[in-house]
Amino acid sequence: MSAPRLEIDALTVRFGGLAAVDDVSFAVASGTVHGLIGPNGAGKTTMFNLISGLVPPSAGAIRLDGERIDALPSWGRARRGLARTFQNIRMFQDMSALETVMTGMHSRLDESLPAALLRMGGFRKAENEALAKAWELLAFVGLADAAHRRSGDLPYGDQRRLEIARALALEPRLLLLDEPAAGMNPSETLALEALLEKLKAQGLTILLVEHDMHFVMRLCDEITVLNFGRKISEGAPHMVRADPVVVEAYLGAKVARSLEAPQ
Ligand SMILES: Nc1ncnc2c1ncn2[C@@H]1O[C@H](COP(=O)(O)OP(=O)(O)OP(=O)(O)O)[C@@H](O)[C@H]1O
Ligand SMILES: [Mg+2]
Repeated sequence: MSAPRLEIDALTVRFGGLAAVDDVSFAVASGTVHGLIGPNGAGKTTMFNLISGLVPPSAGAIRLDGERIDALPSWGRARRGLARTFQNIRMFQDMSALETVMTGMHSRLDESLPAALLRMGGFRKAENEALAKAWELLAFVGLADAAHRRSGDLPYGDQRRLEIARALALEPRLLLLDEPAAGMNPSETLALEALLEKLKAQGLTILLVEHDMHFVMRLCDEITVLNFGRKISEGAPHMVRADPVVVEAYLGAKVARSLEAPQ
């Protein structure tokens, strides 16, 4: 059997006395959407920071397609195909939407400008290809009309989709999404769900943090639940939402019942 796309192995990080992630292990199979859920402060964003290299682990290992990545810097992980979005949107407000997408691209990481300038023809070709690709991604997330608008002026839901387009520009092997539906209205959330379904159909592997449980339960193949930094449950959505430990720690009986109901 091939290695999982992502393997989290006994991962721990301590901030002072607090173990924000405490001996957590799970695996994300290639081509699946894997949910990471739990109450506020459970350690979900910290897990993303560990995976993407913003926070060094205190113990444990992280493997991407079987290869240890936990000692690599963030850019080294990006180069290996790890892309993410942030719970609090992070991008250059003054760039156009089109430019924002282009900041996510491989060519920017792989090719130094002087080297590119030495072979001008190749550079122009690469630039043109990058531009075409950026347009394609904007269209894919439904933002082609906003290409020349200032990123910071876009409505919140559009900024969230722009962040996804920028992450996709890396052509990731694994995409980490931290609360992509947060702050979206119901119709924006439905559009986002359709977008993620399309990415899933294309075979992209996604690790998803999200509090909208209907959204999570419909999209995910597998879910891992954290509470106070520890893994408390794991399995298929219908198993996890019926797990008394998860109902007690996070969902509450009312939400759990609403998830049982046909939608
Ligand atoms: N850099 C840091 N230094 C100290 N404590 C931190 C740091 N980052 C996170 N924490 C703490 O770690 C715990 C987990 O936080 P984290 O942001 O990972 O939670 P979360 O599951 O993403 O919550 P939410 O659903 O509210 O986004 C919290 O108690 C938080 O205060
Ligand atoms: Mg968080």
